[in-house]
Amino acid sequence: MDYKNILAKNLSEKTGLNLEEIEGFIEIPPKSDMGDFAFPCFRLAKTMKKAPNLIAEELKSTLNIDCVERIESLGGYLNFFIAKGNFSKEVIEKVISEKEKYGSCNIGDNKNVIVEYSSPNIAKPFHVGHLCSTAIGNSLYKILSFAGYNTIGINHLGDWGTQFGKLIVAYERWVDEKALENEPIKELLRIYIKFHDEAEKDPSLEDLARAHFKNLEDGCEKEVKLWQRIKDVSLVEFNRVYDLLNIKFDSLAGESFYSDKMESVVSEIKDKGILVESKGALVVELDEFNIPPCMIMKSDGATIYATRDLAAATYRQKTYDFYKNIYVVGTPQSLHFNQIFSTLKKMGKEWANDCVHVGFGTVRIGNKKLATRKGDVVLLEELLSESISRSLELINEKNPALDNKEDVAKKIGIGSVIFTYLKNNRERDLSFDWKDILNFDGETAPYVQYTYARGKSILKKAGDFSSTADYTKLNTTEEFELTKLISRFNETLLLSIEKYEPSIITRYIIDVAKAFNKFYNHCSIMNLEDDSLKMARLNLVVATTIVIKNGLSLLGIDTVERM
Ligand code: ARG
Repeated sequence: MDYKNILAKNLSEKTGLNLEEIEGFIEIPPKSDMGDFAFPCFRLAKTMKKAPNLIAEELKSTLNIDCVERIESLGGYLNFFIAKGNFSKEVIEKVISEKEKYGSCNIGDNKNVIVEYSSPNIAKPFHVGHLCSTAIGNSLYKILSFAGYNTIGINHLGDWGTQFGKLIVAYERWVDEKALENEPIKELLRIYIKFHDEAEKDPSLEDLARAHFKNLEDGCEKEVKLWQRIKDVSLVEFNRVYDLLNIKFDSLAGESFYSDKMESVVSEIKDKGILVESKGALVVELDEFNIPPCMIMKSDGATIYATRDLAAATYRQKTYDFYKNIYVVGTPQSLHFNQIFSTLKKMGKEWANDCVHVGFGTVRIGNKKLATRKGDVVLLEELLSESISRSLELINEKNPALDNKEDVAKKIGIGSVIFTYLKNNRERDLSFDWKDILNFDGETAPYVQYTYARGKSILKKAGDFSSTADYTKLNTTEEFELTKLISRFNETLLLSIEKYEPSIITRYIIDVAKAFNKFYNHCSIMNLEDDSLKMARLNLVVATTIVIKNGLSLLGIDTVERM
């Protein structure tokens, strides 16, 4: 039942005002003693030429709505208290019948949405900072799919650029093949750093690197082979992390994929007459957007990161005719994306307005900002393994007799890291502290996972519960609050899409878990004489477990049946 709509219809009949407009005015009060829905009458004061509190009083005495138990008028607001019994029946039965689909919808209407995420640079460590794009993007991918969009996940690998010329020079001179087999990225990083040290002494190495990159761009066999090897060994490491996280992509078309698609974009820009020379380089000026020019080609004729992004956006538009093209990339690249989107606009591409940069802050571990240059970074794989082993320790403490401890520890360990990344507004910097993330009583994955497992164990103990539930008996505040929250899953999903913000789902799941625990502490379930009340409560437990499971899966986090 769409309560908002029913209220709006009744209000619209009485006031003669437009239904949609009224629906937009209806609010959900911050506290439940102010009702379940509220209508601010001062919105009508002007057209009705009356004081808001008078309007509220009048409406209160004339409105008579079936699903509403009581209406109060307070300070110009009409507060509606909906009839609980019917509401609970409707909500709980809907959740149980829709199961893993509960919360989903079809507003996406199968439209193509690209989510670009993760996008690490080949031959560079996959550090804890990379999890932001990876986890946020993976979650947005799932959230959008759940809302009916046809979602395409792209890992725009950083596998092209002049640094590969340098790596080739370094590879030929200093690589230790054995080390490359064992710890590829560590070895690639070592020789990359060595290149910079050596080039300081011998600048001709830079020219050599440029020549190698040129050969790579021209498709010379030797360079292509070395580049491919560097890419392959890097991907082995990256894939280990993706497997741990259970993350997949529909496409790995990274920067190299566009190496042969840049020429046509550059000539299109030229044809439009917007390519200008500046200090030997070629740029598109973006004064009208109040931002610095977008560099298209360096003075030595090499294309750059931005050129590849222009080619990528154009290719994606042609290939997918996207409704939205979303880039999940750190906020430090805001200017870059602003330049790309503005250049596309200047080229006359209307679809540039459908490109979205979804930014995020930086990660700190133990208050230290992560360095990315020298290699003293915290590897994501190490962080995840540590989280898994700490989870295992906790399980050994709390429940040593548990079956498949390793599997449970993995789900908790990985889940708690992802949860931490998705808990707060994405633009906020993240500081990562072990004592918070694995706290079973905090706002954490283990807390929510534990709540789920608690629900599951109640249901297991209950065994068969096929008798009829009487939902009119669910009339404690705790039951009603939980049910109301459960009913808001889909509207929460839509809000998280509007803001490109998985944390809205995370907070929602925390709220559901908290409301469930209040209900659990306040209302007995198993020791009830009244079977029809017991059934109603058990079904509320079923509905809660479904919502937690569906919600966590939108974040890319697993549940466990016992822990
Ligand atoms: N590889 C880049 C980096 O690590 C991120 C790529 C972002 N995506 C893009 N289309 N430019 O900084």
